[in-house]
Amino acid sequence: MKQAMRANSQQSDADVAYVSRLMLRLALAAVALAVIVIMLGAWTRLVHAGLGCPDWPGCYGFLTVPQSDASIAIANARFPETPVDVAKGWPEMIHRYAAGTLGLLVFGLAAYGVRQRRLNVPVKLPLFVAGFIVLQGAFGMWTVTLKLWPQVVALHLLGGFTTLSLLTLLALRLRRQSQRQRGVKVNVLSSFSSVTPGANGGSRRFRPWLYGGLLLIVLQIALGAWTAANYAAVACPDLPTCGGQWWPQGMDFAHGFDITQHVGPNYLGGQLNADGRVAIHVSHRLGAAVVLVYFSVLLALLWARRRRNGLGQSVAVVAVVLLAQIALGLANVILYIPLAVAVAHNATGALLLLSVIQLIWHQRQLSQGLRAQLSGVRDNKNNLMNSGKHQEITA
Ligand code: HEM
Repeated sequence: MKQAMRANSQQSDADVAYVSRLMLRLALAAVALAVIVIMLGAWTRLVHAGLGCPDWPGCYGFLTVPQSDASIAIANARFPETPVDVAKGWPEMIHRYAAGTLGLLVFGLAAYGVRQRRLNVPVKLPLFVAGFIVLQGAFGMWTVTLKLWPQVVALHLLGGFTTLSLLTLLALRLRRQSQRQRGVKVNVLSSFSSVTPGANGGSRRFRPWLYGGLLLIVLQIALGAWTAANYAAVACPDLPTCGGQWWPQGMDFAHGFDITQHVGPNYLGGQLNADGRVAIHVSHRLGAAVVLVYFSVLLALLWARRRRNGLGQSVAVVAVVLLAQIALGLANVILYIPLAVAVAHNATGALLLLSVIQLIWHQRQLSQGLRAQLSGVRDNKNNLMNSGKHQEITA
């Protein structure tokens, strides 16, 4: 009887290990695909192909970009105001195919999680991401049907970054589950050179500052999205000044950040006045300066305590990605928005967000692991003391 129960429990442990490993692989594939989809979105915008297909989800009512003379004639008859431009249709459709594949992958992941829920795998988060992807699809549609309205373009970009962040969180959770299943300690013991009761690894008090940093990064990404959506990338052609001035005269913040702005026939190339674009561009630069100063101090403090807090590696990753992102931003201006640099700036923005999320996750894991370890130390100590007392009494 006991043997049968033990065999059952071993079987169920093996099931949990298998399912969480499979879900982890799917989640990692989804993270990688989400980065690709985000980059394809930037590429589509940068080659001015955002309106390459005037309808959604098809292209001129076809599943692919119309190529033959006959289908182009049909397409042009359907949308006489936007004649087919095959070179612009493909970037748009490739982005949609990749996004559609990501959607299917995430739905599959959520459905699998629901099926295996008795094994205690994450269910709510994959379901939430699946729902969020539907919303993101709707923003993709509005991007086209509302003719690149900047508010929608910026929200669509932020939605892509949010999808990526949620998928990363899911992958981190599944990795933790899979590690626990395999009996791997979450690197707590190896991360601390010495663990003394009462210590907190030195990083717990930095947690609010880490969340503050995350907020700053999100705001900076939103400013970047607004810069891109309003075609303000070349509003300041020089560096570090803008048009030769440190604080350009006549910057028009009221129009630059007017979220009720009129779109006109469409927003391809932008409709905003030059002073409005300068205001947006300068705000993005200032945002980058604030992020740089904030993170320089925070990361330096965490790095100095790396032996106690165990966060050295995560801190180094954030520092490298941040510097790369700033270098790519500067290259964008100096080299006049080359396609590869602009797409890389977008992708590195996403990686920066992920690296900060990972740093916060790491800090939380270590702090929770340490707490568990310290309570273990305390329990052991109590047990020893109790057994000592017991021996004294029995003696
Ligand atoms: C922490 C630092 C930074 C972050 C997180 C960040 C983030 C972003 C993001 C997410 C975009 C939108 C990209 C797209 O839609 O393709 C963007 C656009 C842009 N950023 Fe940054 N950025 C940073 C620093 C800088 C710096 C230092 C500069 C230059 C001074 C810069 C210049 C630009 C320009 C010119 C664009 C518009 C590119 C385009 O239209 O494709 N950025 N940024």
